[in-house]
Amino acid sequence: MGSTEVNLDQVAYFLITGASRGIGQRMAIETTRKFKPGSIVVLLARSASGLESTRKEILDSNPHISVVTSSVDLNNASKLLLEDIIEKSLAKTPVTNFQLAAIIHNVGTIGNVERKAIDMSDRQEWEEYFATNLFTVGVLNSCFLNKFRECAKKLVVNITSKACAVPFKSMGYYCAGKAAREMYFKVLADEESDLVVLNYSPGPVDTDMTVDIQGRSNAEEIRNYFQGLRETTTMLTTQQTTAKFLSILEAGQFKSGDHVDYYD
Ligand SMILES: NC(=O)c1ccc[n+]([C@@H]2O[C@H](COP(=O)([O-])OP(=O)(O)OC[C@H]3O[C@@H](n4cnc5c(N)ncnc54)[C@H](OP(=O)(O)O)[C@@H]3O)[C@@H](O)[C@H]2O)c1
Repeated sequence: MGSTEVNLDQVAYFLITGASRGIGQRMAIETTRKFKPGSIVVLLARSASGLESTRKEILDSNPHISVVTSSVDLNNASKLLLEDIIEKSLAKTPVTNFQLAAIIHNVGTIGNVERKAIDMSDRQEWEEYFATNLFTVGVLNSCFLNKFRECAKKLVVNITSKACAVPFKSMGYYCAGKAAREMYFKVLADEESDLVVLNYSPGPVDTDMTVDIQGRSNAEEIRNYFQGLRETTTMLTTQQTTAKFLSILEAGQFKSGDHVDYYD
């Protein structure tokens, strides 16, 4: 088994989804700080203005790399579109130029938390949820890894959650989606011994997503849980969880495919 330690002080090709705000935005900014000139960073999400502010912050701290943004709805992005985004971002640079090819699957939505599991009978709602949170993730991952087959070091990160293993009331879509998504990445890690695959669970973080759950969940205990974390300021910041994520990557104290939590 190869080392899972990841050196970020290299010429890297780096793609991250959900980079317009929240955890993805912070991870994009912090992960790219050490990249060497010649590196290419690709930021995906729907909000062009959010992506642009992430791009600016990255370039403020590392002006010698290229940052490409692509405003895309990952709910319905086709394989062709995703391949095209990667191809165009490369601008004819051979993939063997990169010492590291890394992808962070950070995109995530909470789903309809006003619905209890017993009422999840709307097939379209299921399909829409899984399209963004699982199907496009798998398709993009496959496009990425096939393109970078010849790159020496490849890192795949899935932003997962404790909810992939523990049920939370009102979060039926989210828990089911995170469970399926993590298992896909575990199979990938088992099959491809040359990859470093990390399932990183960021802990409860102060973002739009947790504001949304706190406001809309049909379960009082869930609303109170997030309210309690906010009131006691024990909810994590995007900076805290990103710092932990980077320390895990740089130490490499995990086995490819492992689930590693902020609190581990
Ligand atoms: N916050 C937490 O406590 C927590 C805990 C455990 C795990 N996580 C996981 O961490 C990840 C990030 O969560 P977060 O809290 O930072 O959420 P967030 O603030 O709601 O950000 C979600 C990101 O995903 C993008 N996104 C959503 N739908 C999209 C779509 N259809 N197409 C393209 N991009 C889309 C959003 O960008 P646009 O709206 O611009 O498209 C945004 O950049 C998620 O996978 C989440 O499940 C979060």
